[in-house]
Amino acid sequence: MDKLVITGKTPLKGEVSISGAKNAAVAILPAALLLDGVCTIENLPNISDVKLLCEIIESLGAKINWVSENTITIDSRNISCTNAPLDLTRKFRASYYLIGALLGRCKNVQVGMPGGCKLGARPIDQHIKGFEALGASVDVGQGNITAKADRLVGNSIYMDIVSVGATINVMLASVLAEGTTVIDNAAKEPHIVDVANFLNTMGADVRGAGTDVIKINGVEKLSGNITYSVVPDQIEAGTFMLAAVASKGDLIIKNCTTKHLECITAKIIEMGANAEEIDGDTLHVWCNKKTSKANIKTLPYPGFPTDLQPQMGVVLSISDGTSIINESIWESRFQYTEELNKMGAKITAQGKTAIFEGVDSLYGSPVCASDLRAGAALIIAGICADGVTEIYNLEHIDRGYENIEEKFRKIGANIKRVSEDD
Ligand code: EPZ
Repeated sequence: MDKLVITGKTPLKGEVSISGAKNAAVAILPAALLLDGVCTIENLPNISDVKLLCEIIESLGAKINWVSENTITIDSRNISCTNAPLDLTRKFRASYYLIGALLGRCKNVQVGMPGGCKLGARPIDQHIKGFEALGASVDVGQGNITAKADRLVGNSIYMDIVSVGATINVMLASVLAEGTTVIDNAAKEPHIVDVANFLNTMGADVRGAGTDVIKINGVEKLSGNITYSVVPDQIEAGTFMLAAVASKGDLIIKNCTTKHLECITAKIIEMGANAEEIDGDTLHVWCNKKTSKANIKTLPYPGFPTDLQPQMGVVLSISDGTSIINESIWESRFQYTEELNKMGAKITAQGKTAIFEGVDSLYGSPVCASDLRAGAALIIAGICADGVTEIYNLEHIDRGYENIEEKFRKIGANIKRVSEDD
């Protein structure tokens, strides 16, 4: 079992390049199964969720050729199986996109229940509601989700809760359906728009992605021989923005989409840090003083992203005064605060609210990553802390961040991955 060993404290300085978005890539790969043809996908992040999805997609009969570490071609002309096994699907959340894609393509699918970060109940009732509205019968049992339909016919679906996964999954299931589907109260995250753009590049007719009403006019079939590049990762870029602020550093963040980061930019400027757009895909972030307290409420896009909540928690734990975070999306996303308290933070978390009493500095300690973004937060904390921090449970971090220690090392962090055997 590996661990990360970080010696702080070091201000992060230099240039970092953002990879393709995990939460777009893990939906675009299943979406490629809707195509009876070949497509090329570029700017894929080299992370374990992507590799796992490719393994499942190949087991279903598609052929994948790795052109480079970040580019693949997928030939999904021969889908020989529509059964994705539980032992693979349970390892991550996005396996559930295989349901929408294979239901849309083959009208018959069995997918093992998804896994993913332990953030609360994570129900899939809105996904099922959408599939059934299109005419599918859905059965959940014995660890599997089975969906079948003689025909898929467009319908109007109102989401009872804003859901990234359900919005994308219904979009996938309706692209080849007969007639028009309208998804109301849809999620608006950048990765939703990216999936819609990918589908439209293959000849789908998806309109309104990025607003709360998405209209999908079903088409007979999609056309291949296209190349699509995954959008830059908003959450990775935000992670490095908050790392620059917490470490009192100075970073040039390249290959990002600054428009997607407006909420984070506004918040860190409010707290006394600096952020300047150099051009549409480069952001300069620096901070040379103690940040002031802040109140954060996580919201669906364009609000403050829940996936940057733990990373912001590190900034608040060493800011001036008392700050509050209200986590409105997940019931249980404050496990990381126990780990930060082991490093000298003073955080009280209760339900969906956490109170941060700013301290002068953190100190190094052995800590455990409870989920992907908590792991990223602990890396930032280790860089800002006096002394040595050891981070365990790296499998969470490797699911969503490409070459994370290399990227941090290049901007000045004293960080190394050590195998327990060493
Ligand atoms: C996606 O999860 C992301 N994962 C999560 O990122 C992210 O935290 C989340 O969206 C919110 O932005 C991927 O894209 C793979 P939701 P998802 O459906 O789709 C409730 C990361 O760190 N809900 O938008 O599972 C749900 O319980 C990960 O990259 C229902 O009630 O999230 C939650 O309270 C962690 N019924 C809220 O909606 C449903 O059928 C939002 O969930 C679906 C969701």
